[in-house]
Amino acid sequence: MNKWDTEEAIRRWDMHAGNFTAKYTEEGDRSREVLLNPALQACMRPLGGKKVLDAGCGEGYLSRKMARAGALVEAVDYSTEMLRLAKERTPSALGITYHHGNLEKLEMFGDQSFDLIVSNMVIQDLAHYEQAIAEMQRLLVPGGRFIFSILHPCFQTPQSGWVKDDTGKKLYWKVDQYFNEGPLEQAIPYDQEEKFLYFHRTLSSYVQTIIEAGLLLEGMIEPKPSAEMLEKYPHFHEDLNVTNFLIFTTRRLG
Ligand SMILES: C[S@@+](CC[C@H](N)C(=O)[O-])C[C@H]1O[C@@H](n2cnc3c(N)ncnc32)[C@H](O)[C@@H]1O
Repeated sequence: MNKWDTEEAIRRWDMHAGNFTAKYTEEGDRSREVLLNPALQACMRPLGGKKVLDAGCGEGYLSRKMARAGALVEAVDYSTEMLRLAKERTPSALGITYHHGNLEKLEMFGDQSFDLIVSNMVIQDLAHYEQAIAEMQRLLVPGGRFIFSILHPCFQTPQSGWVKDDTGKKLYWKVDQYFNEGPLEQAIPYDQEEKFLYFHRTLSSYVQTIIEAGLLLEGMIEPKPSAEMLEKYPHFHEDLNVTNFLIFTTRRLG
């Protein structure tokens, strides 16, 4: 068994990058289209002319969306395979620069380089998330914002999941071992032996880390499907019972 750390998490991202993003559209996957993008877009505005970092850009759909909305986008990811896909899928006219790097230490960027940093579903992959959040603070101009989404730490816990009846009907969502922080294997990809890794932490650990990094916690969003999205994708009614994601909006003060 390999040590479960950031390097191992990235080895698995390299391994599964193609499959994970195979069905991505320019809205990402279905959860991003229905839940994450509307919430992120609402809190990222206005983007025009802003210097933005997409921290953990993956195949780059959000970088492209932000560039199309007028932002000057740089993007970074630690997976070379994700970056290969991002470059392949990004028209050069969008002017996005992709970098290879670990969010825990981004030496290629100087202090106060960005007005806005967005990190979509990445921070839970890092062994040293405190270092990464402190690094985001360093990279922001005073008044700049760091917005990040994660798996919701109160509902995505070790041993969490649907409890079903004998017919397979979902009865309720079970949460367990909430205080058991540390590395875990996700359930996906379902058909692969080596799954994605992530690191579970409690909600208070995240909030405390944000405060200790010198960032102001301005808001928390638990994305829900809109009526419009429910009409388009009715199976998202399930997401009115339990939320999968949490978005933090933070600001550098001084
Ligand atoms: C769930 S994917 C999200 C990608 C993209 N933000 C999106 O929403 O499609 C997580 C991404 O984080 C990247 N990642 C994980 N740990 C990282 C680290 N320490 N530094 C930089 N990127 C990292 C992975 O390579 C992967 O591309």
